[in-house]
Amino acid sequence: MTTTAEELREEVRRRYAESARAVMAGDSDGCGCGEGSCCADVEAGGKQFVEAFYDAEQSRDLPETAVLASLGCGNPTAVADLRNGETVLDLGSGGGIDVILSARRVGPAGTAYGLDMTEEMLALARRNAAEAGVTNVHFLKGEIEQIPLPADSIDVVISNCVINLSVDKPAVLTEMARVLKPGGRIGISDIVAEDHLTPDDRAERGSYVGCIAGALSRSEYEAGLEAAGFDDISVTYTHEVANGMHSAIVRATKTRAAHENGLHVIEPTASRRIGIG
Ligand SMILES: C[S@@+](CC[C@H](N)C(=O)[O-])C[C@H]1O[C@@H](n2cnc3c(N)ncnc32)[C@H](O)[C@@H]1O
Repeated sequence: MTTTAEELREEVRRRYAESARAVMAGDSDGCGCGEGSCCADVEAGGKQFVEAFYDAEQSRDLPETAVLASLGCGNPTAVADLRNGETVLDLGSGGGIDVILSARRVGPAGTAYGLDMTEEMLALARRNAAEAGVTNVHFLKGEIEQIPLPADSIDVVISNCVINLSVDKPAVLTEMARVLKPGGRIGISDIVAEDHLTPDDRAERGSYVGCIAGALSRSEYEAGLEAAGFDDISVTYTHEVANGMHSAIVRATKTRAAHENGLHVIEPTASRRIGIG
């Protein structure tokens, strides 16, 4: 039986809602409710995720549930070079760890937005931000394929282990370019496959909700970003998480205005999807 894009999206939503509920109830960390979450399927070199990706100074002043809910595969705030007064958007913000850290980096003159489609994750993130005492944050409900923000409004887009979960990756890349100001940049952590791995090879190495089966290859990522209007593109592997699959840092800059590339038009179709069978 073929799984449709909508069924896959619902499966992702259910999985991460369950994860948020477990953290809120104090039952477990976000990884602890069984197989098939990003951090269950993606190993961090044997270390706890927060310890592996965030330095002690960054994680010390975070609420415990923000740390426990961290389900990423890297630390986009470490690579995004955030500056005082900037506006940052985190795609798939989960329990809010990277939004809270970004809000502190951009200071009171700046703003950090978190976007997530899962109500339970948004509730957890809002609670964590209040506990952390950051006020320059906004958590928005929505899908990263249709970002509910105006064109040319964001300085930096970050994301941590989410784009591989999207059922329409070209739409996500196009939307990132649309909302970024000219000169705006992306600093993304994601799972990336070596180019020789077919979609079936990727699916053999891990589940879709576990952030493996839906991963783009390096050249799919580069071509997708270029088509969406980005320049200065780099995809750098940081550590291998399965045979031929890597946690990676993806950087790029938007050099053109949204209208120069026709980036306001979003028409997701099955043929534009990448990385799902
Ligand atoms: C693996 S977790 C990562 C959460 C967070 N970035 C972190 O590092 O802890 C994936 C998150 O992305 C959200 N998500 C997945 N696909 C999404 C989509 N298409 N639109 C919006 N949110 C999405 C899920 O609800 C979940 O909170």
